[in-house]
Amino acid sequence: MAAGPRVIRLGGPADAAGWGRASRALLRDQVPPQDLRWAVEGEAEAGLFDDGAAAAEPSPLDGPTAAVAVPPRFLDLAPHALLHADPRRHALLYRLAWRLQREPGLRHDPLDADWVAAEALAKAVRRDLHKMRAFLRFHEQPGDGPGEPSRFVAWFEPQHHIVEANAPFFARRFASMRWAILTPLRSVAWDGERLAFGAGARREDAPAEDAQHALWRTYYASIFNPARLKLQAMQREMPRRYWPLLPEARLIAPLAAEATRRMQTMIDQPPTVTRRRLPAMAATAPAAPVAGLDALRRQAAGCTACPLGARATQTVFSEGSADALAVLVGEQPGDQEDLQGRPFVGPAGRLLDRVLAELGLPRERLYLTNAVKHFGHELRGQRRIHKTPGQRELLACQGWLQQELAALPADRPLVALGGTAARALLGRPVAVLRERGQWLTRTDGRRVLVTLHPAALLRLPAGEQAAAFEQWLDDLRSLPAQVGQGASPAVRTGSQRAHSSAQASPSAQPPSTSLGQ
Ligand code: URA
Repeated sequence: MAAGPRVIRLGGPADAAGWGRASRALLRDQVPPQDLRWAVEGEAEAGLFDDGAAAAEPSPLDGPTAAVAVPPRFLDLAPHALLHADPRRHALLYRLAWRLQREPGLRHDPLDADWVAAEALAKAVRRDLHKMRAFLRFHEQPGDGPGEPSRFVAWFEPQHHIVEANAPFFARRFASMRWAILTPLRSVAWDGERLAFGAGARREDAPAEDAQHALWRTYYASIFNPARLKLQAMQREMPRRYWPLLPEARLIAPLAAEATRRMQTMIDQPPTVTRRRLPAMAATAPAAPVAGLDALRRQAAGCTACPLGARATQTVFSEGSADALAVLVGEQPGDQEDLQGRPFVGPAGRLLDRVLAELGLPRERLYLTNAVKHFGHELRGQRRIHKTPGQRELLACQGWLQQELAALPADRPLVALGGTAARALLGRPVAVLRERGQWLTRTDGRRVLVTLHPAALLRLPAGEQAAAFEQWLDDLRSLPAQVGQGASPAVRTGSQRAHSSAQASPSAQPPSTSLGQ
């Protein structure tokens, strides 16, 4: 009597490592795919021929293989393809691995049906991983008792078995938060140190939306541009099945319905003088109730309002307290800031520290923040190269900056370091080289000193840096006087500095070391 197929049991639907261990042993033992059945608890079993594919023909090359070898293309796709929800995935990949041991031309045959099918599985899983990173929304829940930190809970419905694979990303990105992600098949929680996986949950187990979501809806409605509405493109990027998870998505239908009328109204408007203005909210405080800085920091840690966050290590919100003497706004965190979670700690930050020392302004008495809260970059090999934020990222972060300003005393001087910051603070494009060193006034009456970003000085040829530093210092010289009123004895005025820094001025150092790392 013929023995039935050998059943290989895996630890769970995401047990790619178990599949790898079993497959290596089976390939070494020359067990043909048609003799196997792969079984995962809770999943329909699937044998090799369930999908109607042809069995691997015995080949003249059949014989003992000393070692199991597969090409990099296989190693690249298998970890993803094995997370697909299709119960035939294990059999397909084993068959492909088996054939790769025996058919030398297969690794170079991009059109082979098994390769194509495996690539399609991997692609679908990669897309699901990306969508989870982009569309997952945490909801804040109060801590268990007085003084207990908040918890953040998100509901998501992945199409494939990606919770384990994506959890380390969320742990890195939201390292300082306590959070849980609930999905129908699997849950994961992070307590600040460890990931714990558990069974699936029901949608009702996740909290309803929180106050922050109402704010984002107000914001989304205010930046919605009917003339730019391209529903099909939007649905390709943000498929409808994710809409229930997104606080802003419920506005799409009513705003789209109104788009034609609003567009006609826009066409009928007389032309405006300045065409490229940011929305009016750019330079005003939000209408929503003002949250404290700590609450804003916590909320921003989960921000996914633009795609930058999905590729950054963490949100870099700000540094400084609500009674800071002045507010310095940069562009966006750089590589070092992204890794350390603090603004201005890289080379540009060190230069900023130098100019603050020159001005006699202690960094710890200031509020340092950025127009954009995530590191935007491109990968060049292993290096992450800074990428200037675009209008979309700037707008997406605008709500945070305006809320920060609303949480700080209104009389604190603001300093815009560079064009992006100036634009975010003033709500219009600013020609920094023309307007540098000047105090400009926002529509809410707050005063903004515009100057260069320290990174702009670092990019200059070494021979020009010392003079540029002096000019930068000149731009900022009026700042200590503006903070003078609230200044403690620790803050010296510009004239005191002029007196005391004659010997110690770092700008007296050679340019290459003065502005270098
Ligand atoms: N550049 C910025 O604009 N901000 C930082 O935090 C660091 C570099």
